[in-house]
Amino acid sequence: MRVLITGGAGFIGSNLAHYWLTNRPEDSVVVYDSLTYAGHRESLSDLESHWNFTFVRGDIRDPSALGLALKDIDLVLHLAAESHNDRAIRDPILAVETNVLGTSILLEACRKSRISRLHHVSTDEVYGSLELGTNERFTLDSPYAPRGPYSASKASSDHMVRAWFETYGLPSTISNSGNNFGPYQHPEKLIPRAITNLFLGRTVPLYGDGLNVRDWIFVDDHCSALDLIVHRGKLGQTYLVSARMELSNIEVIRRILRHLGKGEDSIEWVPDRPGHDRRYALEAQRLTDELGWRPAHDFDQALTETIEWYRRNPAWWRGILPPVPPVNR
Ligand SMILES: NC(=O)c1ccc[n+]([C@@H]2O[C@H](COP(=O)([O-])OP(=O)(O)OC[C@H]3O[C@@H](n4cnc5c(N)ncnc54)[C@H](O)[C@@H]3O)[C@@H](O)[C@H]2O)c1
Repeated sequence: MRVLITGGAGFIGSNLAHYWLTNRPEDSVVVYDSLTYAGHRESLSDLESHWNFTFVRGDIRDPSALGLALKDIDLVLHLAAESHNDRAIRDPILAVETNVLGTSILLEACRKSRISRLHHVSTDEVYGSLELGTNERFTLDSPYAPRGPYSASKASSDHMVRAWFETYGLPSTISNSGNNFGPYQHPEKLIPRAITNLFLGRTVPLYGDGLNVRDWIFVDDHCSALDLIVHRGKLGQTYLVSARMELSNIEVIRRILRHLGKGEDSIEWVPDRPGHDRRYALEAQRLTDELGWRPAHDFDQALTETIEWYRRNPAWWRGILPPVPPVNR
């Protein structure tokens, strides 16, 4: 099978390319990525010499480049996106252009090609925010209620995928997962930012009261869920992906501090992000009961693996650190 991964030079996409070539060595993988600030060819450097790996620099908003890249492709795994909430707040139009328009152009290109399946990777953020301190979880029946430009653009992209399935019969599936962590994640995101700042002797910025809760999943577990969905999932269906690891941001940071032998004086409290969702949690019953998926990683073990990866790979992250804000420095 020939597989094309959009956004394959990003965090989850590059992990997925590694996962695929390790677990399905008979397949060929094409990474299609425009290499924005979030795309890193270095994340794929060990794959470049594989006979069954190809990198194509291209934009999902470019129908002719897509048309060429999709020739002879069987399966499309769609991950290209503007994926950062803070950036989408600063530049909402780019998030809409990439996530909504880009996804629509990709769907149209797929419709005109001979692909046998497309899988769209989305987020739990499309469902909005849950209250703290309840057992409520988002289910497949929860209404879409995005509250920010990133989540609204991802919600729109999910609707586009469903529209192409219902209207044109484009064979597709969708998954919505919680917050991923692991190797190759840009140091602008919570966990790698904390790890890299602490390695550099800096403080760790933490929004608001730190109590916002996320449903964490190790990226390799997300990849195994995607693999299962595209091989065994039913066309037209949506799958929620959760390892049921709900932790507040402060708890995640405390575990990193503990691992690195640092105290809470390394935390720098910063004003909250506007419209910051309080809590996400997903009920992944369709994935676990119908497809039999289980996460293979425990949170703390995966966090240790992630910290050690960043320790071993400073060359990967040193050049892409977010600017240090001038406060208290
Ligand atoms: N990271 C998470 O915790 C998480 C959770 C749930 C869902 N998701 C979704 O998973 C997908 C991947 O997320 P990520 O964290 O790996 O993102 P990322 O920001 O690390 O990577 C995005 C990739 O897309 C590429 N890209 C951006 N615009 C493009 C365009 N117009 N054309 C081609 N390529 C383009 C970038 O160069 C980059 O390589 C996204 O769709 C995101 O919404 C992420």
